Amino acid sequence: MNADQQTFLRDAMRRLNLTREAFSQRIGVTRRALDTWLLPEGSSEARGMPEIVQRFVSEILQAASATEETQSVQAGALRDRILFEGRPQLLSVDQFSRESVEALFRVADIMQPIARRQKVSRVLEGAVLGNLFFEASTRTRVSFGAAFCRLGGSVCDTTGFTFSSMAKGESIYDTSRVMSGYVDALVVRHPEQGSVAEFARATNIPVINGGDGAGEHPSQALLDLYTIQREFSRLGRIVDGAHVAFVGDLKYGRTVHSLVKLLSLYRGLKFTLIAPAGLELPAHLADRISRNGHVVVQTASLAEGLSGADVVYATRIQKERFEPKEQEQFEGYTPDFQVHQALIDAHCSPRTLVMHPLPRDSRPGANDLSTDLNHDPRLAIFRQTDNGIPVRMALFAVLLGVEDQVPRSMRDAGWRPPAAIGPDDAAFDALEA
Ligand code: ASP
Ligand code: CP
Repeated sequence: MNADQQTFLRDAMRRLNLTREAFSQRIGVTRRALDTWLLPEGSSEARGMPEIVQRFVSEILQAASATEETQSVQAGALRDRILFEGRPQLLSVDQFSRESVEALFRVADIMQPIARRQKVSRVLEGAVLGNLFFEASTRTRVSFGAAFCRLGGSVCDTTGFTFSSMAKGESIYDTSRVMSGYVDALVVRHPEQGSVAEFARATNIPVINGGDGAGEHPSQALLDLYTIQREFSRLGRIVDGAHVAFVGDLKYGRTVHSLVKLLSLYRGLKFTLIAPAGLELPAHLADRISRNGHVVVQTASLAEGLSGADVVYATRIQKERFEPKEQEQFEGYTPDFQVHQALIDAHCSPRTLVMHPLPRDSRPGANDLSTDLNHDPRLAIFRQTDNGIPVRMALFAVLLGVEDQVPRSMRDAGWRPPAAIGPDDAAFDALEA
């Protein structure tokens, strides 16, 4: 009856892709018994799990790992299963199957003790990352850099066109080839869709798309899906069959473009797409979701669309990508699309997750995800950003082929971070039903 027991059981359900009900049947215990083992410490109903059950669950997990290993040996190394035009690079979530996403998440799970600063590793000692960001970024640039450093590597950053020689007319091809002589991997963000693929084609080193215009943002979608899975495992749910409501600028929101494709790899989802007229999800993406057998509902009404959602994925209006005529049309874009506490309370359940790729516009009068949800345990935005580290570490480890070295490379960290990183983080335990 402690946090380790809860983590052990939740991770087991997630690894086996079983709901709480199905898991209790699989291990031959009553649902009620399982619930008491998952209750937070301090709850009067909480119970310790018998050792024999723990041993049985461990055996099931070992058998599952052995099967996964056999499958991955048959299918080849993960790196070889997600190549972009024959190279270890990440441009689009289209490079993933459901199996390869799950395999990446198992690597991310291995990274958790390092991401949580309990362990350190030097598997990338001597390697250098080049961060080339030609658009504004806080999370993607810094978390890719931090992920590389936490694996023992170091980082060179350039930001904006002004301070790069592209301002003197240098081509993407030359820039990419030159940088590849200096560094061992590149993360690139660029305002034009398709431009990061151009960087990738000019080099054989790993290149990761950190966002290409209104195209894709694959690492964000991977950390979003990883977050959904982890949060669902706390609630005894699985991704198959979930109802996900996307809100806001679905036309230009590249994180949405990548995430809907990744979620489409799962089964029987309901996608509710809530966008102002003119900012709807591109038709080819909506068609693709339907073709994969999911239900798609499009609406401009927040109240209607949020009802019954398991996940609300709010987004910022991407004004910087608007055509001149859209600038006029959305000048007065306002409150109808603000996701706030009263709305979530009125239309969502206490178990709905509220997500956002961030940044959210928190200036007075902005109509983005409201800060009045900051103390609500359903708000998962900082769990999302925290998950960016293990997921991005996993991407580097896989693309650079060192993931197998990580477990035996870990040593205890010599310092202790605070028990909770943010002042409100403890409140999130309330989620533990
Ligand atoms: N940071 C995300 C992106 O770069 C979302 C956003 O900017 O609204 O796509
Ligand atoms: N989510 C995201 O990509 O954030 P940044 O734009 O700050 O990198």
